[in-house]
Amino acid sequence: MIFDILTLFPEMFRSPLEHSIVGRAVHAGLIEVNLINIRDYAVGKHLITDDYPYGGGRGMIMKAEPIICAVRAITQRDPAGHVVLLTPQGAPLEQERANQLAERSRLILVCGGYEGIDERIRDVVDEELSIGDYVLTGGELAALVVVDVVARLIPDVLGNDGASADDTFSHGLLEFPQYTRPREFEGKKVPHVLLSGDHRAIDRWRRYEALRRTLERRPDLLPKAPLSEEDVQILGELEKSSRGE
Ligand code: 6GU
Repeated sequence: MIFDILTLFPEMFRSPLEHSIVGRAVHAGLIEVNLINIRDYAVGKHLITDDYPYGGGRGMIMKAEPIICAVRAITQRDPAGHVVLLTPQGAPLEQERANQLAERSRLILVCGGYEGIDERIRDVVDEELSIGDYVLTGGELAALVVVDVVARLIPDVLGNDGASADDTFSHGLLEFPQYTRPREFEGKKVPHVLLSGDHRAIDRWRRYEALRRTLERRPDLLPKAPLSEEDVQILGELEKSSRGE
């Protein structure tokens, strides 16, 4: 997977791309990340990348030409490049969409700027994504989120084969609680069943806890989660006991 990140602030990306799992993936050549400074495609003596909004109003608007030139410089070489604009006006990024992005060979991530972007760049954009209902100062952190969420789906990036298949969201529920040593910490004990060696009992406990946690924290996920008859029964009992019945 190749990521091209078009930004006015390429330095914001260096450290996050050098560390942890993403850093290792870059180092191993499993992913490639190119940082492209939009300013390199600006023209004129002052290399201007933004300007005042037509019609008036506060703030500066990113100009269309430098971004379009930067995108075309890539897509002319590699027509498979899929262009994603990061903007709070985009569709919400969810796991399912990330799974689809991970199928592509090349993602061109355009970081929208502080106050806005000339509408005409949308001609070169294939999709627009937002990472949540809040406003960031720019699309850079959102682009890093996209790189991270997609990179970990690329084969071999997570050492442990198929590790991403167990995630919260991949089966539609929040993850069950996890513990490691010691068995007891400040009087708090690891649930007995996890020490039992009874793998069927452990699986049942984990499913129960995942259901309980999802019902408590994210009931909005339940209608879309694939649930067995037993799951539905467990949820019914949990709901009853939460009503004090
Ligand atoms: Cl992609 N950009 C900005 N500026 N703010 C955001 C966002 C993106 N997603 C959520 N908030």
